[in-house]
Amino acid sequence: MGKGKQIVIMIFVVLAVSGASSIDQQQKWRKWMSPGASSSEASRIGASVIFPLYGNVYPNGFYFVQVFVGYPPRPYFLDPDTGSDLTWLQCDAPCVRCTKGFHPLYRPSNDLVVCKDPLCASLHSSDYRCDIPEQCDYEVEYADGGSSLGVLVNDLFSLNLTSGIQINPRLTLGCGYDQLPGISDHPLDGVLGLGKGKSSIVSQLRDQGVVKNIVGHCLSGQGGFLFFGEDVYDSSRITWTPMLRDYTKHYSAGNAELVFGGKSTGLKNLNVIFDSGSSYTYFNSQIYYALLSLIKKGLSGKLREATDDRTLPFCWKGKKPFKSTRDVKKYFKPLALRFPNGWKAKPQFEISPEAYLIISSKGNACLGILNGTDIGLNNFNMIGDISMQDKLLIYDNEKQAIGWTAANCDQPPRSNHAIL
Ligand SMILES: *[C@@H]1O[C@H](CO)[C@@H](O)[C@H](O)[C@H]1NC(C)=O
Ligand SMILES: *[C@@H]1O[C@H](CO)[C@@H](O)[C@H](O)[C@H]1NC(C)=O
Repeated sequence: MGKGKQIVIMIFVVLAVSGASSIDQQQKWRKWMSPGASSSEASRIGASVIFPLYGNVYPNGFYFVQVFVGYPPRPYFLDPDTGSDLTWLQCDAPCVRCTKGFHPLYRPSNDLVVCKDPLCASLHSSDYRCDIPEQCDYEVEYADGGSSLGVLVNDLFSLNLTSGIQINPRLTLGCGYDQLPGISDHPLDGVLGLGKGKSSIVSQLRDQGVVKNIVGHCLSGQGGFLFFGEDVYDSSRITWTPMLRDYTKHYSAGNAELVFGGKSTGLKNLNVIFDSGSSYTYFNSQIYYALLSLIKKGLSGKLREATDDRTLPFCWKGKKPFKSTRDVKKYFKPLALRFPNGWKAKPQFEISPEAYLIISSKGNACLGILNGTDIGLNNFNMIGDISMQDKLLIYDNEKQAIGWTAANCDQPPRSNHAIL
């Protein structure tokens, strides 16, 4: 592991030094600025990009990734969101309403995306007419009530391929000059859209021949990693299930059955979507109610409800404050979602107690599965970050499949090697 990493860093240092001594920085950038970063290195479709992730489900309530945009490249902290397509930055256009981010507002390039651009069309309904043909306005709304409004621009992104090569593709992003915070607002500079639509960053990179349209993430209690492309995992060790094609914009895996403590619950046809932009998992009222009853029944006489703890709607206390979810594991049963279709028979997505509970600052165990109906999610159930921890999750838009496997997400994968 250590060795592989050192080699990558050494190669980079050599490149950087030769860059500084022979050509000046300006020229080096210009070299990469041609549309599509059409160097032979960049167009090898086998390439991958790996980003470290920072954050956690609790207490932070979000994960973020550092992305470099602009010329010269500036860092931004973005929320990696598999539940939406467009990447946007809080933007000085000037900004009408911006929330507090980590970095100064993005100064947009003056390379506006025109109204008739296919990416503009992909963000609007087919009868949409632009007010001004030279620009493309957008508005995105999120399930938590937050939104971003702005204009599309093209700008350079700076990405390190796992091969050690740095590329600077020109990609479309939103310059968001009017943001409304949602209930789960966090102090980030914007959103990294990883959904299956045409405007998603990975789909754009695919169109430029850089990486395959595959996104994956591995979340842990201390961060984890995010990747684009396929040379990061061994496909034969992944449990795959087909992605529903025409459902919504979301990554949906079809109708699952809820399994509680290894036993079928009879709760079937759960429309399940995977959404890294949500910290918690949401089941619709009917499933939520049934699950709550099963959990409470299993706890009777063992743990008391902590009604004074408002961290989440349901918390339980022990004789002594809990330190970690490991302390409460024995009181709670594992859940699983059993999918009807898969490459193997009935693939199961296991949700251990650690993947549905948090330990609050008061030392109580709180249920990280919430009532989706409460936030207007009736038609689907959303698997959020909490339940995707300690798993490698893969959204393969090439073969239209969603895959997962248990993994140690604190170990970033080696470049060009399977991690498992
Ligand atoms: C690329 O890798 C180098 C060396 O590890 C690092 O200094 C740089 O910040 C990375 N760039 C991006 C865009 O991640
Ligand atoms: C879920 O939320 C809805 C809407 O607020 C509410 O009517 C319903 O009773 C809630 N269900 C449970 C089980 O708490």
